Amino acid sequence: MSATPIQLDAQGRLLHFLTIEGLTHRHLTDILDTAESLRGVAERRVKKLPTLHGKTIVNLFFEASTRTRTTFELAAKRLSADVLNLNIATSSAVKGESLLDTLRNIEAMQCDMFVMRHSQSGAAEFMARHVKPHIAVLNAGDGRHAHPTQAMLDVFTIRRHKPDFPNLRIAIVGDILHSRVARSLIHALSILGAGEIRVIAPRTLLPTRVEDLGVQVFYCLPEGLRDVDVVVMLRLQRERMEGALLPSEQEFFQQYGLTKERLALAKPDAIVMHPGPINRGVEIDSRVADGPHSVILEQVTNGIAVRMAIMSITLGHHAQASGEDA
Ligand code: NCD
Repeated sequence: MSATPIQLDAQGRLLHFLTIEGLTHRHLTDILDTAESLRGVAERRVKKLPTLHGKTIVNLFFEASTRTRTTFELAAKRLSADVLNLNIATSSAVKGESLLDTLRNIEAMQCDMFVMRHSQSGAAEFMARHVKPHIAVLNAGDGRHAHPTQAMLDVFTIRRHKPDFPNLRIAIVGDILHSRVARSLIHALSILGAGEIRVIAPRTLLPTRVEDLGVQVFYCLPEGLRDVDVVVMLRLQRERMEGALLPSEQEFFQQYGLTKERLALAKPDAIVMHPGPINRGVEIDSRVADGPHSVILEQVTNGIAVRMAIMSITLGHHAQASGEDA
């Protein structure tokens, strides 16, 4: 799927947040800088800002999620918005209601923003094309396509530890083929000018022509880990796999699992990241996941400030566009 101009207005301002593709360095640094200024809210006695007071945000999750849904909810609440969580398992979607009908019904409840996760690539863009003009749509993951808020919290976490992007070497390891996280992260790192992006995976878990994304491909983990600053581990997304792409989880761990010994090949101050959920003993050893290099839980915390930033930026632009006081 190509860039999605629908997320920008004629002045290039973000109205929706659907994909990283097509955004500029400026868009990304605006989000990162705003997130940095919002990070401190969590340390206050009252963890709230009035920014989105009176706004209604609907979380529409058609796929399982723990971190993404809860951090979106917390982000909205810390900005004083009202939040509605639509539990799709018990909603009419299971009775055959179309996405458009679900959309029209929730729109009738006068909401201002949809946060959506869906198993179909392009679902969030579809929503953005059909919502009323005052509503912002944020993509919380669509199929294998994109997970742009995850990419932003990943680059935010990297920037806090290692701000010198042109001199960074980053390795993304594991199931790249099914990973919307990897795709969005590769785009974000490229836009921010990261020195070298590596992907490390067996051939069966790499998309065809992955090199076209500007990455170096490694099939051997120890080789690919050498001298990297950042290691991003990915889960085997079995729910998206058709047929047997892998011999067994044990064999995968033997070849591609991140152990302490293998991590020693990276730079001594390398950080280890993972979007979660982690599968201990499949892609990552517990001693690494819980070890001193791991910033996995920091990613979760950072997700709140980053999502607060994206919510306030997009809704702020909608307010400007409609002449309302932001
Ligand atoms: C990821 C997702 O859902 O794409 N998780 C997340 O959002 N934190 C990755 C995954 O499910 O493996």
